[in-house]
Amino acid sequence: MGRREGMKRILVTGITGTLGRPVAGMLRSLGAEVRGLSRRPGQDFQGDLADGSGLDAALNGVDVVVHCASNTRRLGRGDLPGVRNLLTAAGRAGRPYVVFVSIVGVDVIPYPYYRVKLAAEGLVEGYGGTILRATQFHEFVLGGARLAARLPVVFAPDVPVQPISARDVAVRIAELVDGQPAGRVADLGGPEVLRAPDLFRDYLRVTGGGGRLVPVRLPGTAFGAFRRGAHLAPSHRSVGERWADFLRARTGG
Ligand SMILES: NC(=O)c1ccc[n+]([C@@H]2O[C@H](COP(=O)([O-])OP(=O)(O)OC[C@H]3O[C@@H](n4cnc5c(N)ncnc54)[C@H](OP(=O)(O)O)[C@@H]3O)[C@@H](O)[C@H]2O)c1
Repeated sequence: MGRREGMKRILVTGITGTLGRPVAGMLRSLGAEVRGLSRRPGQDFQGDLADGSGLDAALNGVDVVVHCASNTRRLGRGDLPGVRNLLTAAGRAGRPYVVFVSIVGVDVIPYPYYRVKLAAEGLVEGYGGTILRATQFHEFVLGGARLAARLPVVFAPDVPVQPISARDVAVRIAELVDGQPAGRVADLGGPEVLRAPDLFRDYLRVTGGGGRLVPVRLPGTAFGAFRRGAHLAPSHRSVGERWADFLRARTGG
């Protein structure tokens, strides 16, 4: 069966991830034909960005690529070759429009993962795609709180955060997908600037965790930049889900 007239065919990389899932859901709900790429079986296309396998098949006939895949657990290891492979394969597939997701502050915070993200931004810019930098996701903060709460003393980085739900980032991505390649667009931050120790405290309260919470100040220029809020976008607050509502919905607290 052919495609409906005007229906976009969109490849979402990282479709199994925190952001990729709601991005795919959002785009599908808007009527797009979405296909997902994963290294594991179970999605429409199996492939590995790091070695380029499976990309030609996944990109065949695609109008837009939303690149959400990243080796977030290992500081972006393999991400740069991954972006290179993706863009080269996109060039062979008729140059679909590419939307790339990055992080607020990657150009000023000397953190290894952020260096990789900044270099990847440069490649996407050279290709002629769109780059959206977002602040930390609610899901990421929740993951950090869960991990910290495993210890009897709960250590929380003494930094501000402006968390945003991945679903709200997906809403913005859907708008960008509908537009034209724009290079780097305005950053996107969560609705409130809060402090990480307070968010971890909220988590302990709603889950009944009793550990003593200790805010920690780490040494180094990267942590100093986080402490000064170089990863925030206070003048680009979204109007979406607040941390407290997200936490309540996720924990039933
Ligand atoms: N988390 C945050 O707070 C945050 C904030 C701002 C921006 N961002 C950016 O948003 C993007 C998505 O982050 P996320 O939190 O959703 O990440 P995530 O949950 O860790 O998901 C990463 C995804 O990347 C895929 N992936 C990793 N390496 C791959 C490879 N070599 N080939 C193919 N797929 C690969 C994984 O798929 P499989 O394992 O299924 O292959 C997974 O679906 C990232 O670019 C990140 O830098 C994140």
